[in-house]
Amino acid sequence: MNIIKPEIILKLNEYFHDLEALTYDSRHPEIFAQEKKNWPEILKTVFSEDKNNIFLDYGSGTGFVEEVIYENNYQNKVERFYCYDISQEMLNKAQEKFKEKKEEFVWHKINSDENINLSESVDIACLNSVLHHLAEPKKVLLNILDNLKSGGYLVLEHEPNKKFYSSKFVFGIFKILRSIKNIFSKKVDKKLVDITMQLNQRMIQENLIKEPFSYQEIQRYVDFQVPASFGKLNKNVGFSPQDIVAWLGDTVTVEKSKTYSFYNIKLIDMIFNKIFKSKGKLFYLILKKK
Ligand SMILES: C[S@@+](CC[C@H](N)C(=O)[O-])C[C@H]1O[C@@H](n2cnc3c(N)ncnc32)[C@H](O)[C@@H]1O
Repeated sequence: MNIIKPEIILKLNEYFHDLEALTYDSRHPEIFAQEKKNWPEILKTVFSEDKNNIFLDYGSGTGFVEEVIYENNYQNKVERFYCYDISQEMLNKAQEKFKEKKEEFVWHKINSDENINLSESVDIACLNSVLHHLAEPKKVLLNILDNLKSGGYLVLEHEPNKKFYSSKFVFGIFKILRSIKNIFSKKVDKKLVDITMQLNQRMIQENLIKEPFSYQEIQRYVDFQVPASFGKLNKNVGFSPQDIVAWLGDTVTVEKSKTYSFYNIKLIDMIFNKIFKSKGKLFYLILKKK
């Protein structure tokens, strides 16, 4: 059982991403490259109608989704971008990138997972690589859905798929490959060690914790809904696309659902994608509000 409080998950995420903001764009180029392959299809779906859209990017980070929208030339279909995030440093980084753009941006620092109330309802809401950081993902999604117009789209992208981790076969292979990789590379991520130290200092100073978290604990709690970190499987966390659809009940229909990426080995991933369609390590999901 996880006995860590939701408020601590929230604060860990805020401070972790504050500390990661400056180097976030350069640290994981392979992830951005992979996600950029999914987004053209997603954008084609959600911008299919000829109209001006109000767009909410929840957990907007350094503005990855907005960048993809500009790169694919859909910015003219957005009347207003609402970029919400728990980390002020992430927001600052994104704001700097888009200061010359003529489209309207509303930047907002979220302080808790309490309800957000936008002054207007939105046509498209997205969470790119965000849901797995939340202590109470269902609650946040229901709230976002309240702010979505009927007929509007909810996009979840780059989320860990619980079905991958609960499959003895596909997850078993993953564990073997990871053990082999660890024999050859015992590299410690120096930036993460540094973040761990600074984050603990801040949490202790603010009386949020008494004892420092270990490097492993921080990873586990920041990526709270990833069912396995450092080889340990935690059956109490995580979700699959089907779980999300069940949470939202008959208020939504599924427009597209796709799992992808098994082991980052091109040929094996291609074969597994065909055989184990619902068990990829990651997924994206496009829902339409009824
Ligand atoms: C992995 S980053 C993804 C950022 C961006 N969407 C992207 O795709 O590059 C996760 C983002 O979620 C934000 N975040 C974490 N917990 C959050 C919460 N409870 N509410 C809102 N944002 C949160 C972080 O600050 C961070 O910017």
